[in-house]
Amino acid sequence: MPDLSTCPIDGDAERARWTASADAWDRWADPMADLADKLNQPLLDAAGVTAGDRVLDLASGAGEPALSAALRTGPDGLVVGSDLVPGMMAGARRRAAGIADGLRPAFAAADMTALPFAAASFDRATCRFGIMFVPDVAAALAELRRVLRPGGRAAFMVWGPRAGNTLFDTVGDAVAAQLGEDRSLDPLFRFAAPGLLAEALRSAGFATVSETDITPVRKAPQGQPFWRATLEMSFGHRLHDLTAGQRADLDAEVTRRFDAQAQGGTIPLPIHVRIVTGA
Ligand SMILES: C[S@@+](CC[C@H](N)C(=O)[O-])C[C@H]1O[C@@H](n2cnc3c(N)ncnc32)[C@H](O)[C@@H]1O
Repeated sequence: MPDLSTCPIDGDAERARWTASADAWDRWADPMADLADKLNQPLLDAAGVTAGDRVLDLASGAGEPALSAALRTGPDGLVVGSDLVPGMMAGARRRAAGIADGLRPAFAAADMTALPFAAASFDRATCRFGIMFVPDVAAALAELRRVLRPGGRAAFMVWGPRAGNTLFDTVGDAVAAQLGEDRSLDPLFRFAAPGLLAEALRSAGFATVSETDITPVRKAPQGQPFWRATLEMSFGHRLHDLTAGQRADLDAEVTRRFDAQAQGGTIPLPIHVRIVTGA
């Protein structure tokens, strides 16, 4: 297993932060669904998800990409989403209620290092922006191998470097300037180094490991609070106790920092994500 000690993860702190932001994830999930699906589709392609597959989605949050997967696997398939935080699963179940009977995924709260599923239960597994928050990555990958059938394929989506992800970088700088530095963004970029997650997969016994970077650039209109979802979903744990005045000052600081990046009325928002697969 590669050395991940430069970014140690505190499991209790991660549970607390995601529990504190579960309401924000539920609130923003529907407005962000189209954007989310643009990332879900290449991840499902990488995992090889097709009709009839049994798919496990790890760290589903408010249901991504489990809900997109369910539309692919169809009535003969099965999708199960799971997440450490029961509050996240509540949002995922609310959203799944809008999906037809027979296609609707099931959701179960579970730590990905101790999954409540029998061996070889799934053909495919996905995990979008989740593996980086697990203290013991080797244990999570061993558990995933146990529940995947031989030859089954897993696909992970992780963030590339912070500097290539302008939304996080700018919002994170604004939060640090207004509320004081914390390290809560660090785990997001735990697998930013090329090859690091691929090496972890190989060490855990996965074969035919591959890695692909995707670097689109979104353009956001200046003057719109396009950054609000990122602020509330990633820093929810730091917002709850702010006074209205402190929150207004923080919003003004975020706006000021994005305005400084505007080009002809739009703000370019580079995104750097990486898909890593193994069988
Ligand atoms: C950034 S969110 C991603 C949610 C969703 N996959 C998405 O892309 O919208 C990270 C999720 O990982 C979950 N998580 C953190 N540690 C976990 C663990 N050990 N086992 C399972 N889920 C975990 C959190 O509760 C949170 O919902």
